[in-house]
Amino acid sequence: MQALILAGGEGTRLRPLTSTMPKPVIPLVGRPFIGYMIEWLRHHGVDDVIISCYFMADSIRAVLGDGSAHGVRLRYLEEPEPLGTGGALKFAQDLLDPRFFMLNGDVLTDMDLTEQLAQHERTGARATLALIAVDDPSAYGLVRRDLDHSVTEFVEKPSGGAVGQDLINAGAYILERNVLDAIGPAGTNASIEREVFPALVGQGLYGYASDGYWLDIGTPERYLQATFDILEGIVSTDIGRELSESDRALADGAEVDGMVVAPAFVGPGCTIAEGAIVGGRTVLGADVEVGEGAHIETSVVLDGSRIGARTTISSSIVGVGVSIGEHCHIEGGVVLGEAVSIGSENALAYGARIFPGVQLPTGAITF
Ligand code: GDD
Ligand code: MG
Repeated sequence: MQALILAGGEGTRLRPLTSTMPKPVIPLVGRPFIGYMIEWLRHHGVDDVIISCYFMADSIRAVLGDGSAHGVRLRYLEEPEPLGTGGALKFAQDLLDPRFFMLNGDVLTDMDLTEQLAQHERTGARATLALIAVDDPSAYGLVRRDLDHSVTEFVEKPSGGAVGQDLINAGAYILERNVLDAIGPAGTNASIEREVFPALVGQGLYGYASDGYWLDIGTPERYLQATFDILEGIVSTDIGRELSESDRALADGAEVDGMVVAPAFVGPGCTIAEGAIVGGRTVLGADVEVGEGAHIETSVVLDGSRIGARTTISSSIVGVGVSIGEHCHIEGGVVLGEAVSIGSENALAYGARIFPGVQLPTGAITF
């Protein structure tokens, strides 16, 4: 079975992480995010994946290659300009099979695509959308269904505030190729949510309600939530299963003189000095140095960063190659971009986002 993954968005809400790398390949618990999507698709019989790119396409290709490391055939399509979700689908037309999955490239999920496919076949649908219940549909595509699962209404980003639990579009579709007939000429901009799905209501559009795990990872808070949920096994993943076999702390190839508190994942080449505590709910990428007496909890520190002695970090994200001096306090949703340098004796909080390459001198910020 084939899958088309949309991965062209700029990921603006995840800056400054997405200032230097595209959202699909941001590391999540030691592997590129989209690796989780491919693993999930493979579990449901997908062996042929097309990634539809625009923003930083070369970095996506460089990280994922031809897919052999992920057990699938991977091909890339690069749009000359962003064509929107429907335009991206039409742009892929020459590569598409008679039936295929189409996925938004920013959801961490273990929804049962096999069940969705079974329903798709039972109803004879042209398109079957996976649906998930949320408390506030306003940031999503609101979907209403009939008793036979046919969609009666699709409203993208509905205004009017929350009206209790609703089913929304989870960004995982099974499409028959003839859905492409509902889109204008190739190379023009189109939205599958605003144009195609509303036009297909009553024309073979069905919804499959899923009760699996589902999270759009597009903000720092959700990226951290996704990290915790993988570490704690709340979403079903291969790495989560590996963690559970080792009592939820993995530190292979790391030099640990301090302590690692589960659940945690510590990448290869890390050094954790004496008296330092890493965890719980913490991920260190590869080659991270943690100084004496430092304390990192509920946070992610990406590859090659250095954390000074007695510095504390909680509920924050430290990008690649960041250097933090001694005795700093970083808490409350701070995001540090690639190669940021923070001098000693600084305090950062309240969701501060520091952009790539910025240098803060010693004692520059306190509260
Ligand atoms: N190739 C390509 N070209 N991909 C694109 C483009 C484009 O022009 N625009 C967006 N994408 C990709 C994004 O990278 C992302 O993976 C996916 O399409 C959805 O775009 P988002 O920008 O993340 O949309 P959203 O989160 O506001 O809303 C969508 O997802 C919700 C679920 O998370 C919609 O599909 C909603 O209906 C849905 O509920
Ligand atoms: Mg999204």
